[in-house]
Amino acid sequence: MGKDVIIACDFASAQDTFAFLDKFKEEKPFVKIGMELFYAEGPSIVREIKARGHKIFLDLKLHDIPNTVKKSMHVLSGLDVDMTNLHAAGTKAMMEAALEGLTRPDGTRPILIAVTQLTSTDEERMQKELLINATVADTVLHYAKNAADAGLDGVVCSPLEAGVVHERCGKNFVTVTPGVRFAGGDVGDQKRVTTPEMAKEIGSDYIVVGRPITAAEDPVAAYRKCVAAFVD
Ligand code: C5P
Repeated sequence: MGKDVIIACDFASAQDTFAFLDKFKEEKPFVKIGMELFYAEGPSIVREIKARGHKIFLDLKLHDIPNTVKKSMHVLSGLDVDMTNLHAAGTKAMMEAALEGLTRPDGTRPILIAVTQLTSTDEERMQKELLINATVADTVLHYAKNAADAGLDGVVCSPLEAGVVHERCGKNFVTVTPGVRFAGGDVGDQKRVTTPEMAKEIGSDYIVVGRPITAAEDPVAAYRKCVAAFVD
């Protein structure tokens, strides 16, 4: 799997998204489209960004009964996205159904990755509310292993976890890691952050970077700085 920087396009409208993407004259960055933008603009935003030549990670985190997820994944694969995701908590049966739905008649399909435990869920809540009697770290690794067993390509995780996920699930199991900040940059609401250089060293396959690029004075320069540190 090729290492790449994915820009989190956390904008509320197509207009803001295109104003941002228009700044890139030479590169066509890999972009992440999340629920906010997708629900605001619908599938046309995916088609338009794709038509401009970008790779797309559609971050909709599906979680439903296997049959519903399979049929929804079939629709997403028809949108020609490059990567999409679901919740590992939906079970291996749901993940297997998702893979089936996502696979096109010619055998190709987008990369499919799983969300393990959301970073917003702390250990106390996970144990008391969800009745999961384990540590967050063990739950993340167990869900990652379930995703690998179901045939998925990888997981979303902290760059700090990328090394252990690779140890447990194999070096080809993809780690897609948000929570990246430049050294000395504004951390914002992220609690555990790493620099692009550290993420590379630990072995992340893709870093997802939002505000350090989208809110930078010069987003193109910030993107190039990330690519230089992580990919080159
Ligand atoms: O702006 P920032 O770089 O913090 O954006 C990170 C992106 O990654 C956002 O789209 C955020 O929702 C997403 N994300 C995250 N942490 C997770 C999962 C996803 O920051 N555990």
